[in-house]
Amino acid sequence: MTALTWNETLALNNAQMGRTHEEFVGLLAAAAAALPGPDAALLQAFDLLTLHTVEHFAQEDRWMAATGFAPANCHAYQHQAVLAVMQECVNRARGADGQGGDFEPLRLAVDELALWFPQHAQSMDAALAQHLASLQFDPATGECARALPAEAQAGCGGSSCS
Ligand SMILES: [Fe+2]
Ligand SMILES: [Fe+2]
Repeated sequence: MTALTWNETLALNNAQMGRTHEEFVGLLAAAAAALPGPDAALLQAFDLLTLHTVEHFAQEDRWMAATGFAPANCHAYQHQAVLAVMQECVNRARGADGQGGDFEPLRLAVDELALWFPQHAQSMDAALAQHLASLQFDPATGECARALPAEAQAGCGGSSCS
């Protein structure tokens, strides 16, 4: 099992993003702690993580939309793909008849998310945080003090993004 613990490199100099990331790490740790326990508790913990992730990703998607990113950029696309996998894990674990289903994908996802999240935070989210700071974006109002780029940004802005 891969343990992910909170550290400041996941905060990215953006207070609101940092709070959301700290919550994500806490909820993922709760799901990891529930792995050896009863299925119902594991499902409940992973479901809470998934519900939190809906808003976590939606918040970043709103910030991208407000600051000149194209709707189909790779960061938003990765959010969609990861959230779809998490929701599928919940559905599979719940089972079609509500009597309990296949927990294998969900158990794997707990470990995979602990590997995936730091990479995502330190590439795509870091680029977004840098972009928001450069525009002096205020998440409370959704306004930028600086002018938006003239052209929509097609990529995530990360160093490995073409
Ligand atoms: Fe994030
Ligand atoms: Fe993100």
